[in-house]
Amino acid sequence: MIKNAVSLVTGGASGLGRATVERLAKQGARVVLADLGTSKGQEVAKELGDNVVFVSVDVTSEKDVTNAMQTAKDKFGRLDLAVNCAGTATAVRTYNFNKSTAHRLEDFTRVIMINTVGTFNVIRLAAGLMGTNEPNQDGQRGVIVNTASVAAFDGQIGQAAYSASKAAVVGMTLPIARDLSTQGIRICTIAPGLFNTPMLASLPEKIKLNTFQYQEYFVMSGKKSFLKLVLFANVFMHSREKTNLKIFSVINNLYIQFIYFPISETTKWKILLTFKWTKRK
Ligand SMILES: NC(=O)c1ccc[n+]([C@@H]2O[C@H](COP(=O)([O-])OP(=O)(O)OC[C@H]3O[C@@H](n4cnc5c(N)ncnc54)[C@H](O)[C@@H]3O)[C@@H](O)[C@H]2O)c1
Repeated sequence: MIKNAVSLVTGGASGLGRATVERLAKQGARVVLADLGTSKGQEVAKELGDNVVFVSVDVTSEKDVTNAMQTAKDKFGRLDLAVNCAGTATAVRTYNFNKSTAHRLEDFTRVIMINTVGTFNVIRLAAGLMGTNEPNQDGQRGVIVNTASVAAFDGQIGQAAYSASKAAVVGMTLPIARDLSTQGIRICTIAPGLFNTPMLASLPEKIKLNTFQYQEYFVMSGKKSFLKLVLFANVFMHSREKTNLKIFSVINNLYIQFIYFPISETTKWKILLTFKWTKRK
């Protein structure tokens, strides 16, 4: 299925997008790596060989994305798969009462433009190119994958812009699926939790900690973390019955891991399965 498929990956120079490009190339797909001219896209494409071509693209630009579609057509003859990974994040409170300053409107707009409008820009132009494919034996012409985030459903302090931008991607998926269904073009959106990429690294420590604390995998550092950990564990044990919970705490050089899990489908999960102390790597 992936072998020989022609794909376009936005944000393909870094993080999730880069990993997607690498995986597709490894499985024999031909890939248009679309990312900003300032990114490492050219280098990444060169490393991966002739089946990966870099195109300088700002996803918010109609001209750039049209050019990327044209490259897919000229270089590989078609487009079967489009993966939207390009994205940006910001971490600013709606109003900072200590400094008496409001969230800058430009920052809110920039995040929406890249994450939401940019994603839609790629979807609409990719759909046009996929629509020219001959349908396969199942009547399918192509697939589009978008990247939202857990923040679409569970936004944290400072994530108003980011959460709104990702919730919009989630919201547009169903109507677009309906729009494109007559042509056999499928679309889906993934909503990942946190993973370590340059985007995550760019956020302030305080925001990272805050975001981690309320997600399934906790990472906390500092002497008070043990107490916080027990507190949060209690909250989670009473609120998320069906998910395993792993909590990590780092106190000085020691790394403590707790894993709670449900006893069965019917009983509330209250078991401490593992309690391990290991030297931090
Ligand atoms: N890292 C996480 O924890 C996390 C969690 C959930 C969702 N996501 C989402 O996953 C996607 C990938 O994020 P990542 O963590 O790999 O980030 P990353 O910063 O490593 O990669 C993002 C890429 O997007 C590119 N990009 C930014 N603006 C662009 C634009 N206007 N046009 C074209 N390319 C542009 C950047 O140059 C970069 O290469 C994003 O949509 C992000 O919101 C990330």
